[in-house]
Amino acid sequence: MRPHKNSTFSRRPPILHLLFLAALFSILVFAIQSSLFSGDPKSDLSKEEIQALSDFQSSVQQCVANRGLGLTAHIVDICKLTLKFPEGTNSTWYNDQFKIYEPLEYHYDVCDAILLWEQYRNMTTVLTREYLDARPDGWLEYAAKRIAQLGSDKCYNKTLCEEHLNLILPAKPPFHPRQFHTCAVVGNSGDLLKTEFGEDIDGHDAVIRDNEAPVNEKYAKHVGLKRDFRLVVRGAARNMVKILNGSTDEVLIIKSVTHRDFNAMIKRIPNPVYLFQGIVLRRGAKGTGMKSIELALSMCDIVDTYGFTVDPGYTEWTRYFSTPRKGHNPLQGRAYYQLLECLGVIRIHSPMRAQRKQDWSDVPSREMISRAHAAALHLKRGRGPGQFGSCKVWGNVDPDNSGPISGSSDMSDVRKYSHYNRWEVMPFESLRREARDYYIQMENVSLYKMDGNKLDDLVCVAHSLKSEA
Ligand SMILES: *[C@@H]1O[C@H](CO)[C@@H](O)[C@H](O)[C@H]1NC(C)=O
Ligand SMILES: *[C@@H]1O[C@H](CO)[C@@H](O)[C@H](O)[C@H]1NC(C)=O
Ligand SMILES: *[C@@H]1O[C@H](CO)[C@@H](O)[C@H](O)[C@H]1NC(C)=O
Ligand SMILES: *[C@@H]1O[C@H](CO)[C@@H](O)[C@H](O)[C@H]1NC(C)=O
Ligand SMILES: *[C@@H]1O[C@H](CO)[C@@H](O)[C@H](O)[C@H]1NC(C)=O
Repeated sequence: MRPHKNSTFSRRPPILHLLFLAALFSILVFAIQSSLFSGDPKSDLSKEEIQALSDFQSSVQQCVANRGLGLTAHIVDICKLTLKFPEGTNSTWYNDQFKIYEPLEYHYDVCDAILLWEQYRNMTTVLTREYLDARPDGWLEYAAKRIAQLGSDKCYNKTLCEEHLNLILPAKPPFHPRQFHTCAVVGNSGDLLKTEFGEDIDGHDAVIRDNEAPVNEKYAKHVGLKRDFRLVVRGAARNMVKILNGSTDEVLIIKSVTHRDFNAMIKRIPNPVYLFQGIVLRRGAKGTGMKSIELALSMCDIVDTYGFTVDPGYTEWTRYFSTPRKGHNPLQGRAYYQLLECLGVIRIHSPMRAQRKQDWSDVPSREMISRAHAAALHLKRGRGPGQFGSCKVWGNVDPDNSGPISGSSDMSDVRKYSHYNRWEVMPFESLRREARDYYIQMENVSLYKMDGNKLDDLVCVAHSLKSEA
């Protein structure tokens, strides 16, 4: 076939040949032009916006080079970035199904990432009654998915579902964007025993811990003693009474679903307990680590992470309170956490970074992030109608008459004498100034995600008497 075609072609007169090439050339030029000027969304961006994104990319690249312990960032375009581990990195995470080791290269869209993570700074991440009321399918579908052992996939009987959730369902957000300046998120990695971050951790305005993590004198110099929040999965309910002994103010946030065992446990403890809002309903749950960061960002300006197993060469898969076991150190997680640090989302503390002076000057500044965020927003979603552009569903509640505090319908003595309602009835005036300013800018509207990872589609609840026409 091929030689035959070639020979016909070569027998054509040269003029036709040239015309053909000219036509081909102009098609090519046209294709390039249209991809540059009309097909490419970049054309919508101003010169300043393109500059903001490319400055940001360079800054992220430099940050990864300085802080990534061997990782390098390779810029693909104004949004796309590849993180590479050095040649010869030993990948110990073996995928049995596909018979492959973890790759040494990870691709990211930095514009999407910055939109997603900056959005958490404005979110409410605790499930509330106002959220369920605002969502059209809130009680019937969403609530049902958060209750294990309901016996049906929908809340056909709302009263029954309310009974399941009452203990853990506040009327309105108990926590607020910008409520704390600094927060420590403490994972459970065994590498915490290699450092003594206890005092650093306790120096934060709020400390967020994970599942069964013990906090006591034995581990104090490694993990500190301050206890404010604990993100838990249902399996942790069994040991919680013992773990919480002596820590009556620590707030429990259930990551996945509530169920009978949990409700029984809650009735025996004075601690406030809530459900996390924003889980990915379709694809199951994400790791507790990521959820803790989301929770922290929804309340804190600065999020410091400890105990997340992010150093190369760490070959144990264990918790600081259990005996070491041989394991792995997934490269994918390491790369992603490093990216998050260089996007200004978290600040990583780990054994290999402990010796370093804690200097964050090579992480992009808030000003740079905010310029890049504005450009990414324009690029990915066009110029939206202001801060409520993603509000797909609106709710409206009277701030003076927004229902009972959670648990009040079933207060045992142990709960009655706790500070259970401390968060829920906190007067607006006693919030930190930055948190009050936030609500003023947001006109007292609370934003919730419709579903875990989707950027768009927020549920927005206005705390005001005026009705949305
Ligand atoms: C890489 O890891 C595997 C499994 O832990 C080990 O058997 C192998 O010796 C390691 N190779 C290098 C070069 O470190
Ligand atoms: C977050 O809230 C601030 C007000 O504090 C607002 O200026 C900003 O546009 C909001 N960002 C997002 C992503 O909603
Ligand atoms: C709904 O649930 C409540 C509480 O469990 C129960 O008292 C009531 O009988 C149920 N209603 C129906 C129609 O099943
Ligand atoms: C709680 O701690 C106190 C003193 O530290 C101890 O006496 C008590 O037995 C503990 N309770 C439980 C349920 O572990
Ligand atoms: C927002 O809420 C505060 C406290 O409840 C109130 O003083 C203020 O008037 C509200 N602002 C708006 C715009 O509704």
